[in-house]
Amino acid sequence: MTFLSERSKHAQNAIEVEDIVAEELVKEGRKVVSLNRGDPAKYLPTPKYIVDSYKKALDDGKTGYSKAEGLNELAVAIAGRYKRMHGLNLKREDIICTAGVSEALEFMNSAMVSSGDSAILFKPYYPPYMSHLRLNDGNVVLERYNESDGWNVHIDELRHSLSYLKKSNRLKKVKYMLMTNPNNPTGTVLRRKVLEEIVDLANEYGLFLISDEIYDEIVYNGARFTSVSELAEGMPHAILNGLAKDYDATGFRLGYMIVPEDDKRSLELKKKMVDYARVRISLNTPSQWAAVEAINNVKEHNRWVKSYVKEIEKRMNYAVDLLEENPYLQVVRPNGAYYIFPKIDLKLLGFKSDMQFVDTLLRKTGVQIVWGSAFGEPSHLRLVGLAPKEILEYALNRLNNFCRKNARN
Ligand SMILES: Cc1ncc(COP(=O)(O)O)c(C=O)c1O
Repeated sequence: MTFLSERSKHAQNAIEVEDIVAEELVKEGRKVVSLNRGDPAKYLPTPKYIVDSYKKALDDGKTGYSKAEGLNELAVAIAGRYKRMHGLNLKREDIICTAGVSEALEFMNSAMVSSGDSAILFKPYYPPYMSHLRLNDGNVVLERYNESDGWNVHIDELRHSLSYLKKSNRLKKVKYMLMTNPNNPTGTVLRRKVLEEIVDLANEYGLFLISDEIYDEIVYNGARFTSVSELAEGMPHAILNGLAKDYDATGFRLGYMIVPEDDKRSLELKKKMVDYARVRISLNTPSQWAAVEAINNVKEHNRWVKSYVKEIEKRMNYAVDLLEENPYLQVVRPNGAYYIFPKIDLKLLGFKSDMQFVDTLLRKTGVQIVWGSAFGEPSHLRLVGLAPKEILEYALNRLNNFCRKNARN
């Protein structure tokens, strides 16, 4: 008998695997530049008005447990945001607050997925989607974002695949279809028309649609974001979101799930999510009070977010321009979030896998990025474009030179 459970092997996050190597190199006195983690607060400080409200919550003695599914005041603030941005009329019961979107993923998978059930994900996917599904003994049905169409969804392909699932009787086992918009790792903001067609297909096939919209305000290069919540009225769906990215507060660990409808599945899910929340008693209380202020102080937020997104746009475009100088990479320019996901010609560079490339790059140059296979897409790399220009220049020039040195042509 083994001590650890069989399923525990799925508790892994490839984005952080190379951190051990990076730490060793730093101990040896080497310079390491890590472009692996999407943590804006590392380079762009969390807005002062949010930090101040966190401190005030502590000073005011708001240090005890809170209602498990989140403070009522926070639910009101979130409902207000969705009213302002998307015209939604959410009720208290439609909103479940969690310790980041990460915890919402954990709860919803445990709540919905039994052994042998499945979920539809699109590749490249955010790796924890897969971990949480597998941890609950779920199987994946992998659809794909289409690289040659700026990583949008190929609707005919999706329709074909859903029709096949139905004919082969496998659709019954599908608990949900989950997509990410704007996307990590591709930085794509899905076109409204594509989203409309995805929503129509989900409706036609009776799928529970979940949209992770944690980067919904980080959109640039003229792109426009549409929330699934605007298109999916009257059909079962859920939206994932949080404070981490739009409010630059990753360490506050505050997210939420919105389930706007009252059909049977939606009602069951939102009630069960509260049960899960009660098992862990409470969320970080001062963090929730800071979130109430972060979301309700629309004037401060709008002023700050404009310059935040502008700065991200500048850094991202600068990074993409540098990567485009590399003849061994093919880049789709992102217009949302802060990730770049170039395709790499591994054969020309003499590497067996993207994993080997990334590991060697780190050991030889001190530049840490993530391999595409971790997102279900081999022969790709994922880089975070949040660092200031001089750091991006240093790291990406090293990456480009490393490729030139290894090239076999
Ligand atoms: C698509 C996506 N969803 C969820 C998360 C995690 O969010 P949180 O920090 O709220 O747990 C991330 C973090 O990078 C992400 O990229």
